[in-house]
Amino acid sequence: MKSVVIYKSKTGFAKKYAEWLAEDLSADIFEVSTVNVSMLTEYDTVIYGGSLHAVGIIGVNFITNNADKLKDKKVIIFATGASPSTEQVAKEIITNNIPASLQRHIKFFYLRGGFVYDKLPLTDKVLMTLLKWKIQRKNKQKKALTRDEKGMLAAYDKPVDFTKKEYIADIVSYVNS
Ligand SMILES: Cc1cc2nc3c(=O)[nH]c(=O)nc-3n(C[C@H](O)[C@H](O)[C@H](O)COP(=O)(O)O)c2cc1C
Repeated sequence: MKSVVIYKSKTGFAKKYAEWLAEDLSADIFEVSTVNVSMLTEYDTVIYGGSLHAVGIIGVNFITNNADKLKDKKVIIFATGASPSTEQVAKEIITNNIPASLQRHIKFFYLRGGFVYDKLPLTDKVLMTLLKWKIQRKNKQKKALTRDEKGMLAAYDKPVDFTKKEYIADIVSYVNS
């Protein structure tokens, strides 16, 4: 059984999980901009991973737009984000990124990434600065910040990395099942 891992990553977290998966599954690995769907005929399993941007998985259209060409394969999508891994987070990501008609065929996993403000491209820095101001405003208005908001504020000054290789275990078992 031959597997391929395709990823899109801005600061390295999705890439790190993609590399761990490729290593454990002895799979080929490609950055999404270097692949086209005709290159995937030889694979039984296609794994796509990208980071979350406002609940959207970057680059995921590569899979959802080509779903008809992947219907005879095992297809897995994973997302990395700064949010903690909960069932609710996973459900929201699935609803926002995988059309209902494909949800039975595509298996989804959420792998917690991290946050490195300094490595972001300029446009993302601007967006994230707006979010920072929003949280700071809430704080100044003496409204209680959630644990995630507090964590997010701290992460602007000090990068956070929640990745763990063990998080890929469920994907590896699913591929091998
Ligand atoms: C503009 C922007 C929006 C983001 N939106 C989310 C989000 O909705 N949920 C989340 O958990 N993380 C969000 N993040 C955090 C990234 O998903 C997180 O840092 C991820 O681990 C980055 O992975 P990468 O290095 O592979 O790109 C956002 C980051 C940026 C820059």
